[in-house]
Amino acid sequence: MIRASIVGASGYAGGELLRLLLAHPHVEVSQITSETYAGQYAYFLHPNLRGHTDLRFVRLADLKPCDLLFLALPHGQAMDRIDDFASLAERIIDLSADFRLRDPADYPRWYGREHPAPRWLDRFVYGMPELHREELRTARYASGTGCNAIVTLLALWPLYRRGLVREAVVDLKVGSSEGGSKPTPASHHPERAGVVRTYAPVRHRHLAELIQELDLDPADPGLHLSITSVGIVRGALATCHCLLKEDLDERAVWRIYREDYADEPFVRLVRARRGIHRYPEPKILTGSNYCDIGFAADPGHRRLVVVAAIDNLMKGAAGNAVQTMNVMYSWPERTGLEFPGLHPI
Ligand SMILES: NC(=O)c1ccc[n+]([C@@H]2O[C@H](COP(=O)([O-])OP(=O)(O)OC[C@H]3O[C@@H](n4cnc5c(N)ncnc54)[C@H](OP(=O)(O)O)[C@@H]3O)[C@@H](O)[C@H]2O)c1
Repeated sequence: MIRASIVGASGYAGGELLRLLLAHPHVEVSQITSETYAGQYAYFLHPNLRGHTDLRFVRLADLKPCDLLFLALPHGQAMDRIDDFASLAERIIDLSADFRLRDPADYPRWYGREHPAPRWLDRFVYGMPELHREELRTARYASGTGCNAIVTLLALWPLYRRGLVREAVVDLKVGSSEGGSKPTPASHHPERAGVVRTYAPVRHRHLAELIQELDLDPADPGLHLSITSVGIVRGALATCHCLLKEDLDERAVWRIYREDYADEPFVRLVRARRGIHRYPEPKILTGSNYCDIGFAADPGHRRLVVVAAIDNLMKGAAGNAVQTMNVMYSWPERTGLEFPGLHPI
């Protein structure tokens, strides 16, 4: 057993982490923090956990040493206090963007601010087991990934690593929980309910992670990302329009994806010629850690459409962080992540 604490446990990602860790056989949750709700029971904010824990939120100042610290703070908070956090725990998994990018110059470029602790950037491994499993096995510090970044990376990695793509346009549709639990004018129910609202047609910040992880030219990545909010709470769907260097038939594409993902515990290839579940959809992944991937080739046009879906709070955040923890501690990767989702939902 290890003792883990969650900083920012009143939020959506922190609450999802708490749900997963309470059921994890090798983890005891020591403390959970919230500045606003210190003293309140966890289930006051996460009512699904009523009867599962009597933990109460504590303030950051009352945090005690533990084995593993999960940080689920808004971007820009962990980078300011990383030395303090590191003095409390042997290992850290940070879900924010603060330690995802290796190049310090990317922070002013993409996040509008110099990184205050650039020497820490090299110590963090990008927390995506599918791409960095070996480094994570010995890592003390891991970042999370952007939810839009991880679904796009899983969709495109097999093609990019083989140099098959000339240019790609990724159209992402995302649910409201991506924005976190703090209300904004855009999340106000009359403004948010039922929308199909494009809010980042170009230069979404997660493009920085894609450029880094796919090793693209920052000046001309040839990869374009557009994000649209849709009327769901959880879920992200990436529709990736790939213009290929040469034509690929579907059998060749299947071979490529099977080769890369056959042994991945949380990547499923969706292949059905009939029925209503022919392509991935986020709805049935709710609460599960899967990323479903499917595609359609357009023979003769050197075009391939790859479709990938996740639950943004699971494979996009807390579930992926637990998978990363499992790798770091050499536990089977599926531990605590067996829930297959719901149908119908
Ligand atoms: N939502 C997603 O789908 C998703 C996906 C991938 C990654 N992430 C990342 O995960 C992190 C958390 O996201 P979220 O959606 O869970 O956000 P959230 O719902 O807004 O939660 C933020 C948490 O941080 C705490 N907090 C805020 N400011 C603080 C401060 N100055 N000092 C101490 N605690 C503070 C809040 O506690 P109080 O109760 O005190 O306000 C709350 O517990 C973000 O960095 C986000 O980028 C989120």
